[in-house]
Amino acid sequence: MSFQILGTGAYVPEKILTNEELSQMVDTSDEWITQRVGVKTRHISVNESAAEMGAKAAQRALEAAGISAAQLGLIVGATVSADQCCPSTAAKVQQAIGASCPAFDVNSACSGFLFALDTAAAFIVRGGIEYALVFGAERLSRILDWTDRSTCVIFGDGAGAFVIAKGENYLGSHLFTQGGESVLAIPLGKGNSPFYEKEVAPLAVHMSGQETFKFAVKQIVGGIRLIAEQAGITTDQINWIVPHQANIRIIDLAARRLGIPMEKFVVNIERYGNTSSASVPISFDELARSGKLKKGDLIAMCAFGGGLSSAACLIKW
Ligand code: ACO
Repeated sequence: MSFQILGTGAYVPEKILTNEELSQMVDTSDEWITQRVGVKTRHISVNESAAEMGAKAAQRALEAAGISAAQLGLIVGATVSADQCCPSTAAKVQQAIGASCPAFDVNSACSGFLFALDTAAAFIVRGGIEYALVFGAERLSRILDWTDRSTCVIFGDGAGAFVIAKGENYLGSHLFTQGGESVLAIPLGKGNSPFYEKEVAPLAVHMSGQETFKFAVKQIVGGIRLIAEQAGITTDQINWIVPHQANIRIIDLAARRLGIPMEKFVVNIERYGNTSSASVPISFDELARSGKLKKGDLIAMCAFGGGLSSAACLIKW
């Protein structure tokens, strides 16, 4: 017994920030961002928190699933950009949608949604829960250094959610963590503690782009091969791949190494940028609503990010 996806939903804030507008803020250009990253526009939250965006994506997933918030037995959220560390983003979503079940967050940066999904899957296998909500919600714009052109051009805000229930459609999963903070870290600063002796980096995304890039390609390729092996299929039998939208060159290189055509990869980085844990569920929701999916299609999802972490899973539609 594993689970099936009953409904998906996504939400992005209204404000769109173009590469041209960003070029007025930092020393960059539409040409550099398009060629090196693949982003043209990203959505930026002006007033909405990660939890508020998560709640809107959750409502849409509940509507698609045809169940009410009161029927949920569990909510697992993923975020690295909550407005508060307490209450959890999942607890705030629970309140906003009118659910009454246990709710908690997992933090595995851009892989967070797939870690959250695997966590919810384990609860469903344990029994006692009929429906679970899993979401990724990010307001990355609040944790970026908007003077650092090597990071602020990459990211965007948004949220995506799944409603899942008992079923047989989760065919394989792989979670990976290689602990360390030298490649990617989001320090929170030291607050106003008078007791800190060591220098603490300010709140912002600190990233070694090229190291992350190499890790990402290796983990997408390795993760997809592993989940295919777990499910007893070959990688060319996978109908769709929903990758974390971090850099079009990462997706392109992974596709070539796997020998899987780019047409099978869901790509929307040009419109949203990297929305961290929201990236996979937003992309999956677009695929699910596109009308392209057929019953029985095999869909791989994969993500990578801070931790360092990576995750991949295989779903039967
Ligand atoms: N505009 C113009 N020039 C720029 C910009 C910019 N926005 N950013 C960097 N440059 C310059 C650099 O200064 C450098 O100039 P130099 O050659 O004169 O020194 C040059 O461009 C090349 O810089 P690199 O850092 O080598 O650029 P690269 O091609 O590696 O692209 C990038 C950088 C986009 C960050 C890429 O490495 C990448 O996408 N890495 C993966 C990031 C990722 O996947 N993150 C996901 C996890 S995030 C999370 O978990 C929260």
